[in-house]
Amino acid sequence: MEWMGNIVVVGVQWGDEGKGKIVDLLAQEADIVARSQGGANAGHTIFRKDREFVLHLIPCGILYPEKVCILGNGVVIDPKVLFEEIDQLQNYGISVGDRFFISDSAHITLPYHKQVDGARELSRRLGTTQRGIGPTYVDKMGRIGIRTSDLLDFEIFKEKLKKNAEEKNFILREFYKETGWDWQDTLEEFQRYGERLRPWITDTSLLINKALDEGKRILFEGAQGTLLDIDFGTYPYVTTSNASAGGVCTGLGIGPTRIQQVLGVAKAYTTRVGEGPLPTEFSPDLDEMMRIMGREYGATTGRPRRCGWLDALVVRKSVRVNGAESLAITKLDVLDGLERLRICVGYQYRGRTLSEFPNQIEVLQECEPVYEQLEGWQKETRAVRRIEDLPREARKYLNRIEELVGVKISIVSVGPRRDETILLENFHW
Ligand code: IMP
Repeated sequence: MEWMGNIVVVGVQWGDEGKGKIVDLLAQEADIVARSQGGANAGHTIFRKDREFVLHLIPCGILYPEKVCILGNGVVIDPKVLFEEIDQLQNYGISVGDRFFISDSAHITLPYHKQVDGARELSRRLGTTQRGIGPTYVDKMGRIGIRTSDLLDFEIFKEKLKKNAEEKNFILREFYKETGWDWQDTLEEFQRYGERLRPWITDTSLLINKALDEGKRILFEGAQGTLLDIDFGTYPYVTTSNASAGGVCTGLGIGPTRIQQVLGVAKAYTTRVGEGPLPTEFSPDLDEMMRIMGREYGATTGRPRRCGWLDALVVRKSVRVNGAESLAITKLDVLDGLERLRICVGYQYRGRTLSEFPNQIEVLQECEPVYEQLEGWQKETRAVRRIEDLPREARKYLNRIEELVGVKISIVSVGPRRDETILLENFHW
């Protein structure tokens, strides 16, 4: 197969599009797999020889013994989750060893971030994963964050932690009426983490740019999805990072000229976990059925995902924002057996038809989807490996998505395993 430069794999819905499987598939041809944003809120599921792996922080490339994996400066690191993940991988005989690197400028999620995340949820109800992601990024932007490199010097870490303790405890105790947080305990715990992290912490921007100069091939693994992006998502029901392709540059310290391809990943229908609008949400009975058929439960929190029809306005917006040239459609097999399918092609809003996804949540909340109906297919698609072998109705469904979204589909996934995939002619790798 032909290598077409470095590639960004990005979710074009509300996350959980099946990026883990697509990254696992494409990582075969990459030298480095790098993450640029998000943290332990992600849950990338990969099936290998009938074993299921769920990775929250470490890039999916780690499952290949020779791939280098990087967590960039834009990622927020929860060392406890990271070590649990590393230990779990080791139990499976997968060693992280000297092919894993963490940016010295990546911010650390500390216990008070998780406490604030949980406490704020009680009143704000954004449906966060409560992994402390939002509060960690808030401190980063507020310039009081603690970075991985700070953990490497006890005095620097102590100083910064102590400075934060007063403010954090005031907020926790006085505003949220929570128990306080003991900075001395954290100091000891995170000092130990720092020692364990030490061999992996480095200037990953330098590392990755050198690797690029040497002609190494890089796969940029997106986490969450474009509709959860802090700028382009359904604000405020979003995560706190740039989950769209633009975040790759700032989250890893590379220039846009280093990226040659952007592949958008879309599920054949739509899901979202947590609060916030989902205009094409199924009726409760279909919702329940699809959740069971598609095993739609959050990989990080176990929460049931809300399910709905494919929304062309969502995918078209994401394709535009990311500059995606092609799409991977996942979980097509989950639609097998449905009599009819719907695709949302517009929204009714106060007597008008909107043809583009609105940016204001207040508008979106009043929108009613306008659907186009298509015939379903009654055959199983899981064993199909060539596009021409898909049922005619399934091909029609995919063609219609291409027309509505304006880009070609290059990969169709018909099952969780790596080989349950159809690669199309326009897929260049
Ligand atoms: P946070 O990222 O934990 O702050 O959560 C903010 C929103 O993003 C919530 O609706 C979460 O359910 C959602 N979210 C965060 N990470 C993921 C993910 O990896 N997949 C799907 N939804 C996510």
